[in-house]
Amino acid sequence: MLVVAVISLKGGVGKTSVTLGLAGAAWERGVRTLVVDLDPQGNASTVLDPPEVRFTASDVLSDPRPKLLAHAVARSGWGPEVDVIAADSLLERHNALAGRESTLRLRIAMGGLRGYDLVLVDSPPSLGGLTRNALAASHVALVVAEPSLFALQGAAAALDAIELVRSDNLRLRPAGILVNKLRAQSVEHRFRHDELRRTYGDLVLEPALLDRTAVQQAEGACVPVQAWRSPGAREVADALDDHLDHLLARPVDAGPLGKGRR
Ligand SMILES: Nc1ncnc2c1ncn2[C@@H]1O[C@H](COP(=O)(O)OP(=O)(O)O)[C@@H](O)[C@H]1O
Ligand SMILES: [Mg+2]
Repeated sequence: MLVVAVISLKGGVGKTSVTLGLAGAAWERGVRTLVVDLDPQGNASTVLDPPEVRFTASDVLSDPRPKLLAHAVARSGWGPEVDVIAADSLLERHNALAGRESTLRLRIAMGGLRGYDLVLVDSPPSLGGLTRNALAASHVALVVAEPSLFALQGAAAALDAIELVRSDNLRLRPAGILVNKLRAQSVEHRFRHDELRRTYGDLVLEPALLDRTAVQQAEGACVPVQAWRSPGAREVADALDDHLDHLLARPVDAGPLGKGRR
């Protein structure tokens, strides 16, 4: 079981869309996937549309027992391939808590989790307690960036955040930087994309995800982009398929918990 945190310290770059896109790629192939929504905004939960939620991600962080987590797992509206632990607005209070004990809660709660090939953790756009929980529970962190003016800074901050959390979670590795919403005809986008590649080399994952209205349309209809019938949807879905392959090909490091700095 591979646990992937999808992060960026900036909002609106596409963390949730990448999380949902990878979940959709897994859905299309029948790869058993759990999405953990750690963003108090709950956008991923809205699109995954679980018919029944008994406990939420904030319940899990408040009481991190594996048994409670098992009850928080809900079947998504997409079908039996994708389950979700849904967010609620009470999650916000966990963002303020960043001590070692608080940041290991998701990892502890996930201790008994079985039956999934892939767990995707969506996170809010800050390095607060929620993103730290996501990083502490994960094997790899996927950094999402837009090809814009602040992309370089944003990616640097996200990679620093991964290094910071590695003192608590020695197995954590960056999965790479996934450029999202690329408009190939935009000179500025091409420039920023090249700048990222010059700076981060192989860490910049190929192919970038193109800016396609189908992503928004599928999210609005609460379906995977893979189920949306348009050429744009197919382009994005094909790229996501490559990224899912790349993620699943990684050896999963069982690594120990670090001693922590604090
Ligand atoms: N590849 C894409 N093409 C077009 N729109 C996109 C794409 N990725 C994300 N979006 C849209 O951009 C907005 C912000 O994306 P979102 O995934 O919610 O970002 P974040 O989770 O980082 O805040 C959403 O309306 C989403 O539908
Ligand atoms: Mg989001």
